[in-house]
Amino acid sequence: MVDGKLSVAVVGLGRAGHVHLRSLVSLSTKARIAWVVDLNAETAARVAAVHECKATTDIDDALADADLDAVIICSATYTHFDFTMRALNARKAVFTEKPISHDPAELEEVLDVAMRSNLVFCTGYQRRCDKNFRALKQQLDSGAIGSVRLIKCTSRDNPEPPIEYLKVSGGIFHDMLCHDFDMLHFLTGEFPETVYSVGHCYNPQIEAMGDCDTVVVTLKYASGLLATVDTSRVACYGYDQRIEVLGELGMAQANNEHESTVTVATARGYVGAKSAFSFPERYMHTYLTEIAEFVEQVKARRPDPEAVTRRHVILEKVTTAAELSWRLKREVRIADVDELRDKVPVSTLHGPVKTKVPLAA
Ligand SMILES: NC(=O)c1ccc[n+]([C@@H]2O[C@H](COP(=O)([O-])OP(=O)(O)OC[C@H]3O[C@@H](n4cnc5c(N)ncnc54)[C@H](O)[C@@H]3O)[C@@H](O)[C@H]2O)c1
Repeated sequence: MVDGKLSVAVVGLGRAGHVHLRSLVSLSTKARIAWVVDLNAETAARVAAVHECKATTDIDDALADADLDAVIICSATYTHFDFTMRALNARKAVFTEKPISHDPAELEEVLDVAMRSNLVFCTGYQRRCDKNFRALKQQLDSGAIGSVRLIKCTSRDNPEPPIEYLKVSGGIFHDMLCHDFDMLHFLTGEFPETVYSVGHCYNPQIEAMGDCDTVVVTLKYASGLLATVDTSRVACYGYDQRIEVLGELGMAQANNEHESTVTVATARGYVGAKSAFSFPERYMHTYLTEIAEFVEQVKARRPDPEAVTRRHVILEKVTTAAELSWRLKREVRIADVDELRDKVPVSTLHGPVKTKVPLAA
């Protein structure tokens, strides 16, 4: 750390990279952008000029910098495992975007290495840092609505991501629904026993990739809790994220965020503000909170508790079970996922085969 400021590299300068760069700019009294890394040398040089930092196309250049404290990995999903392993081996704290890996063996490996390293290792499930969903969780934890019986999550993206992104996204279950399954776990602390998914595809380009763009998932828990998630790659009226929880003693809702809280009523009816356009607008304060908390954790050398880190292993199974259920057209037990995943072909939208062999920690 130089001058008490955390020295950070941002890897991947696309949509998520720019969100995290903006957060780091807001945190400039606590952290400095030391490196930007992107496969595209022109992009890296252009962004480095704006942030007055070093640019490279190879993460190893940044990792060789002894003054570098932390790495924010927001390159394409298929790079997360390899880059996280390299960063941890170089003794840098890691914040990686979701999902960590599509391969369960890699996921367990990287979590083991992260925990053994005693370095801070955080993941980009930012909804856990969202002020609305944290307030909802506080209400549930306080017992305001008694024991939870039913949760309805609405999770609709906007605009539809670029086709080039979708080709390496891992598919709608691992790219989008993983956030909702993480949120259900955040709110309840429970993991489901079974899931059942139905999906449809309206966009022929997405259908041709073997993916779908509209899904409803039903989850059943040992406690009796039932949950549903409805998700869509696009919602023409803007980004839409809502949760409703029914408990024994009442109901709690986290409503969608709009551009303002203003409503105008005339003889023609009520008119309100639009939804936030997309994820950078809706979660602007949330992304800032998650990076601010990451910076504080690294400064305090305070890694997450083991259960927070290990949750990813079961949540990856839940996500894969949801995808398998859609493909098999039947309910899938989480306990059966490991056996089924070897027999049933799942999404291949995972990007190129890895070329770098991770180092042993
Ligand atoms: N948490 C969230 O809300 C959220 C939102 C959007 C994206 N994401 C995640 O962030 C990641 C990136 O998504 P995006 O929408 O920014 O994608 P994007 O396509 O806009 O940007 C990806 C960037 O990574 C770069 N890149 C790819 N391979 C690289 C490599 N080997 N080395 C260096 N740079 C490389 C690309 O050149 C590109 O600039 C994905 O894993 C996605 O799941 C998370």
